[in-house]
Amino acid sequence: MKKFVLSTLILAFFSPTLLLAESALKSQKAYSGGNGEDSTQMPAIINRQVRFHPVTSNKGMVVSQESIASRVGADILSKGGNAVDAAVATGFALAVTLPQAGNLGGGGFMLLHLSGSGKSPSGRTIAIDYREMAPAAADKNLFLDESGNVDNQLARYSRLSTGVPGTVAGLIHVLEQYGTMDLAQVLAPAIELAEKGFKISPSLAYSLYKAKPRLKNNSTSAQYFFKKNGASLQEEDLWQQHDLAVTLQKIAKEGKDGFYRGSVADLIIAEIKRGKGVMTHKDLASYRVVERTPIIGTYRGYTVASMPPPSSGGIHLIQMLNILEGWDLANLGHNSANYLHHLIETMRRAYADRSQYLGDPDFFPVPVKALTNKSYAAKLRAQINRGKVSVSSEIKPGLSVPYESPQTTHFSVWDSEGNVVSNTYTLNFSYGSGIAVAGAGFLLNNEMDDFSAKPGVPNAYGLIGNEANAIEPRKRPLSSMTPTIVFKQSKAPGIKQPIMATGSPGGSTIITIVLQNILNHLEFGMNIAEATAAPRVHHQWLPDEVRIEPGINSDTIKILRDMGHNIQEANRIMGRVQAITQGADGQLSGASDPRWPGGEAISEGSR
Ligand code: DON
Repeated sequence: MKKFVLSTLILAFFSPTLLLAESALKSQKAYSGGNGEDSTQMPAIINRQVRFHPVTSNKGMVVSQESIASRVGADILSKGGNAVDAAVATGFALAVTLPQAGNLGGGGFMLLHLSGSGKSPSGRTIAIDYREMAPAAADKNLFLDESGNVDNQLARYSRLSTGVPGTVAGLIHVLEQYGTMDLAQVLAPAIELAEKGFKISPSLAYSLYKAKPRLKNNSTSAQYFFKKNGASLQEEDLWQQHDLAVTLQKIAKEGKDGFYRGSVADLIIAEIKRGKGVMTHKDLASYRVVERTPIIGTYRGYTVASMPPPSSGGIHLIQMLNILEGWDLANLGHNSANYLHHLIETMRRAYADRSQYLGDPDFFPVPVKALTNKSYAAKLRAQINRGKVSVSSEIKPGLSVPYESPQTTHFSVWDSEGNVVSNTYTLNFSYGSGIAVAGAGFLLNNEMDDFSAKPGVPNAYGLIGNEANAIEPRKRPLSSMTPTIVFKQSKAPGIKQPIMATGSPGGSTIITIVLQNILNHLEFGMNIAEATAAPRVHHQWLPDEVRIEPGINSDTIKILRDMGHNIQEANRIMGRVQAITQGADGQLSGASDPRWPGGEAISEGSR
């Protein structure tokens, strides 16, 4: 095999046209050695046209923002687990190894595609909503002070900012419904990591150091996330989390009840009561996971499935793809001024609608069909002129039609039977509210800030909301998380074949990050490593500004400015995509966003 790889490389070197003629997508096509003797079919893994290469696999793959957790998932695949088993194991491992976003005390969304093989029902795509819920005693005035102003300290850093956590219920639900392994098996690696410890990576040491002022504010967090003498944990230090290990063991033994009832629930409520929190035992015991129908759209022959409300992600992803489908984007040129102009004007309109019509569908009639239909997109497209910049104050939600604080985290899993998981979960801010549950070893989320605390007053991501996203008892706050799976029509009629699983953290920027990741792959033919590394832009209607990442050409910025776009100079990076694609030959390609060191795409069976 080694000899074959060498001969292929030599051939590629001396015959540049062999590879140069191929587009990035075609590079995934199988080809033979070409010397007439070796008829082995080998998928291309090197393309001399591109600067970024994905990790490849002919079996399964796990991609996450933290390499130990990716390894945990890949090992579960190697032991015969399916994508759901691996996803649940990865999710629990991240709760140990990526404390800023991996979590037990938060919530999230999973998009799951079952291939129809094995014991799974046939070819279904399911959206699992395990978003946090408002406690029963919460109401629309929860964060207003006596003068009726929003108290951001309460909404973001207090025990009142915590929604009823959904992660443990969500992961257990999918495992029971669609997994093949038992809970103790998939929790074992996380328990071991918490109990025996793991070595602190450079990125974790940095992240903990940066969060020091917030974490030191809470005596339990100060104890959990720093050395006994109060110093910061350093790269290569062994970090053990005894209380967290005990909590995980309880969950392994008692399932959902090990978290939502009994001693862990007692610890959570005792912690909530140490401040002004209103969450009760009853809120915990009555937390429910909801299976929802994914938002489905089409883009140039591809089918795109994504997260429905209470995430705004799926609706606006499809809405933007519908608008963009009407232009020949590839012809405009990737990240050209003209392409970015069309992208920005599209984003502006989608986020205007978000402010008005999106909220928890169990409480507010979200106009899903109207927002995602192609004729509404055509109407919005007609407002967008080549070369003419709109002003957000003149764009209103059209039916009738502060920068991100890292982080949330995404992981994608693909097994060799074609089951696919795309999962984004979060504590909201990095390290959530910063408040840890004494005795239980984990952090409380501050997801309640994702509600609209007062109409027209922006939340931490600058997002404006309205009645649709007002706080109500047992309601779920609106999210931007956009776990997505893209399909192509297979040769067999009626069968859709997954070709891409993607998602990202990034607060309000998540939806536009996922949009650009998909367009880079489908429209511009980039492999998933290139598609993920490429610089991004973001516009969210209000504030009326374009955020750009480093890497957008300065001439392009000048053209956009001359057109009238308000380009923000901050040059901050946005998101951390963790994505997998499948080529026509069945080979998987994975990429962990280079914007955050320490993530990894790991193939099943690799060591
Ligand atoms: O659900 C949401 O949209 C936010 N709570 C996500 C927060 C986030 O992505 C922070 N990370 N960068």
